[in-house]
Amino acid sequence: MASADATTDHDGAAFPVPELRERAEACAARLCEAGEFLLCSHIDADGLTSAAVATAAFERAGFDFETAFFKQLDADAVASIAATDYDVVCFTDFGSGQLDVIAPREEAGEFVPVIADHHQPAEAETEFHLNPLLEGLDGASELSGAGAAYLLARALGDATETDNRDLAALAVVGAVGDMQDNEGGLSGANEALVADAVAAGALAEVTDLALYGRQTRPLPKLLEYASEARIPGISNDQAGAIEFLTDLDVPMKDADGEWRRWVDLDGDERRTVASALIRRAVSSGVPSERVDALVDTTYVLADEEPGTELRDVSEFSTLLNATARYERADVGLAVCLGDRGAALDRARTLLRNHRRNLSEGLQWITNEGVEREEHVQWFDAGTRIRETIVGIVAGMAVGANGVSARKPIVAFADKGAGETKVSARGSGFLVREGLDLSAVLREASRAVGGDGGGHDVAAGATIPADEREAFLEAVDELVGEQLADE
Ligand code: C5P
Ligand code: C5P
Ligand code: C5P
Ligand code: ZN
Repeated sequence: MASADATTDHDGAAFPVPELRERAEACAARLCEAGEFLLCSHIDADGLTSAAVATAAFERAGFDFETAFFKQLDADAVASIAATDYDVVCFTDFGSGQLDVIAPREEAGEFVPVIADHHQPAEAETEFHLNPLLEGLDGASELSGAGAAYLLARALGDATETDNRDLAALAVVGAVGDMQDNEGGLSGANEALVADAVAAGALAEVTDLALYGRQTRPLPKLLEYASEARIPGISNDQAGAIEFLTDLDVPMKDADGEWRRWVDLDGDERRTVASALIRRAVSSGVPSERVDALVDTTYVLADEEPGTELRDVSEFSTLLNATARYERADVGLAVCLGDRGAALDRARTLLRNHRRNLSEGLQWITNEGVEREEHVQWFDAGTRIRETIVGIVAGMAVGANGVSARKPIVAFADKGAGETKVSARGSGFLVREGLDLSAVLREASRAVGGDGGGHDVAAGATIPADEREAFLEAVDELVGEQLADE
């Protein structure tokens, strides 16, 4: 597997993230040795793209493998994996956080784990473990699960005809799906993946209006729903958004009388709208950093048709969440692997349902408001918000009416069977102040007989339903300690 030159691939291309090369090669070699194994991945956009990158690379390598998706890798899930006949199990976008559950299975000879992940590792060791956090890279912002899977694919490139560089674009979808793109676009190790995807002709980096929905949303909706911009009289204001647009010297409807989308405007028209938006933001007192953020680095998939849900990386990731978070990971995986027929049709139907759920969930939170503890704010959605999307809704609610951007938000939803799902979201600012939600959720959930983990800025857990109060008290105290320490 290892090539003679430590810094270049067989074809002379540099390995994109040199810090992780050895780990990637060790994992790749172990899979080559096995030839036959089980692939397990997570049910969100990053988990799906991780599985898609891995699947494509494994097929090219001629491996014999099966794929399974899990909502969480808890003790039951690991037990069901151990019960299969596979001697080797490849985990993508999870595995590190559950190493304390997996390692004893390995020791017992039940299976050998090969992990490509970016979550905070639990305290246990294993040999085949590819994770940016083990080499001092940030797992929340510099490399996603799909990025880790891509490095594994690159290391496998030696065993195949291709170097697998064409798979980098899917890894970028995963990183953006995990919200790793901040101001200025993707950073750290992710930049090397962007460069690979661009070099492969699959991705374009474009400086553009940084609002969600440029490809598919009618212009008034693009502006009205742009809650991240928070422009008075436009954001969350349907009539205001329409008035703003119709006052501009740009035709806003097409020949059929339908609202145009951002993607339908030509360069001059886009500049006109963007300049007017910036002027309006400035004149209504939007802080300069939010004004600057209105135009930023965006990513489009060069081979996808403009105006579709697949063209923009961020919209693509939403389409994937709409499948896997509704028990249809098979549909999202097929779309990632190129199915533009039945799977895409099905995904579009699922997307309509997902969007309705997000919008109703957000509406419910802004109507009900959140409860405030000393250091965190929280809401309990019960069965009103599906537990698989309550984290997305919590993240979208931050900064909306009545939801502070200065305190972490903790969301609860019913899982059934006496269990409650917890999702917590912070901010870059709070992380710089010392917040680590992964540590908080792991400790507080374990204290009440549950389990959890994730990233410093976003984490999740499952707890017994009747322990919500005790759990919340522990969370509030731990967050208070973290923010006081610094
Ligand atoms: O399981 P996984 O790592 O894929 O999920 C990461 C989660 O963290 C996503 O739901 C993503 O939206 C969230 N996140 C966030 N803010 C960030 C980074 C990630 O809310 N800055
Ligand atoms: O990328 P992520 O899955 O974390 O995005 C969360 C959801 O927020 C997406 O599914 C998308 O539909 C939605 N969204 C939105 N408007 C925005 C930003 C995101 O509807 N301005
Ligand atoms: O489920 P949610 O979107 O809130 O997850 C946020 C982050 O926490 C994700 O990265 C997820 O993988 C992680 N998580 C975890 N253990 C759990 C639940 C979530 O590590 N029990
Ligand atoms: Zn991930």
